[in-house]
Amino acid sequence: MPAIAAKRYTDLGAVKGEGCYLYTDDGRKVLDFASGVAVTNLGHNHPSVVKAAHEQLDKLIHGGHLVVFYESYVALAEKLNQLTGGDTMVYFSNSGAEVNDGAIKLAKYVSKKTAVIAFRNSFHGRTIYSAALTASNAKYRKYYDCVSGIYFAEYAYCYRCPFGKKQGSCKMECLKQFDTIFHTVVDPDCVAAIIVEPVQGEGGYVVPPKEFLEGLRKICDEKGIFLIFDEVQTGIGRTGQLYAYQTFGIQPDILTTSKGIANGFPLAGIIAKKEIMSQWPHGAHSGTYGGNPVACAASLAVLKEMTEGGVIEHCRKMGDYFMGKLKALQAKRPEVIGDVRGVGLMLAIELIDDKGEPNTALTDKIIAYALKHDLILLPCGTYHNCVRFISPLVVTEKEIDIALDIVDKAFD
Ligand SMILES: Cc1ncc(COP(=O)(O)O)c(C=O)c1O
Repeated sequence: MPAIAAKRYTDLGAVKGEGCYLYTDDGRKVLDFASGVAVTNLGHNHPSVVKAAHEQLDKLIHGGHLVVFYESYVALAEKLNQLTGGDTMVYFSNSGAEVNDGAIKLAKYVSKKTAVIAFRNSFHGRTIYSAALTASNAKYRKYYDCVSGIYFAEYAYCYRCPFGKKQGSCKMECLKQFDTIFHTVVDPDCVAAIIVEPVQGEGGYVVPPKEFLEGLRKICDEKGIFLIFDEVQTGIGRTGQLYAYQTFGIQPDILTTSKGIANGFPLAGIIAKKEIMSQWPHGAHSGTYGGNPVACAASLAVLKEMTEGGVIEHCRKMGDYFMGKLKALQAKRPEVIGDVRGVGLMLAIELIDDKGEPNTALTDKIIAYALKHDLILLPCGTYHNCVRFISPLVVTEKEIDIALDIVDKAFD
């Protein structure tokens, strides 16, 4: 047994990555539609990212943002500020879980309130606090419970509406539930933040109706609660805009970003309205490694490719193409593909059995077949009964065709 504790979805030994492909130590060339879990949005080892990182390596590897300013860090904060409307401030960390913890600390510090509302089927990370916010599967929390003051609401998962309603004819019970929550379990005066993934990731690539996010915005405005969007997975072009809040046209007070932000270098950010972040004094939050110079330089290259290199437009185009092909696949196999959903290149199919129940066994088989045929796919959904397609945003029609041909054969 190798001396490694972390477990992984495959036994592949990756030695090289290029574009949408990984090359393995046993000579395989594998189409990577996991993108290191939604990280390599520009494809593996994108030349602009490699160049920017090399140049920064020669200049400065670590300065410590507790100690000094450095060029790539300041430039990245300014770029993110510009790309998120100009009235924001940024705090850098290293991972999604870390920025979600930080965002909650910021909301609590500024509001001087302690309670937080999160959603069923959410995933926010694996630190003690972000795992406590997570409700996509009890295994992420098992034996770790020690955090109080987190309350869970149902998400707008319309395919399996938790209120038993149908989209279109419902009364948005997913918003009405807040009346009950505020009346029975937590007074809104005590709630610092509502934290939500604008599209649930690990929970099943669940795209809520726009009115759900609009409703959350309204509730937060009325009750004086900060709205936090966890954009760790939805950010950096994945949904067809730089951030999903731009896709939906709903502005959070605080957003968290990571994964694709530096195309593989560990980097994350909390982006908040200036009036909020400016109230967070020195010492209230920090960390040794946040905003590493090389990661920031890589991230600047990522943002340039996203915004000036046409990658986001390409994502929208490929997203439409991919969605069309998935819908055709569903039309061919309606008895097992219950739902096709997603936005941009954050796409999934939900697999069902003959009673319409989650079909985890079939999902496992499809993913295993794909891997055998040199295609990496990941599951999602609380019962792991969805196949998610997280290709790099630079994917081509040809690569989508290759992947879906394998998936089609897997169903056969
Ligand atoms: C929406 C969301 N938030 C937070 C995280 C945690 O990020 P990290 O693994 O970098 O801590 C993830 C990771 O999958 C995620 O998808």
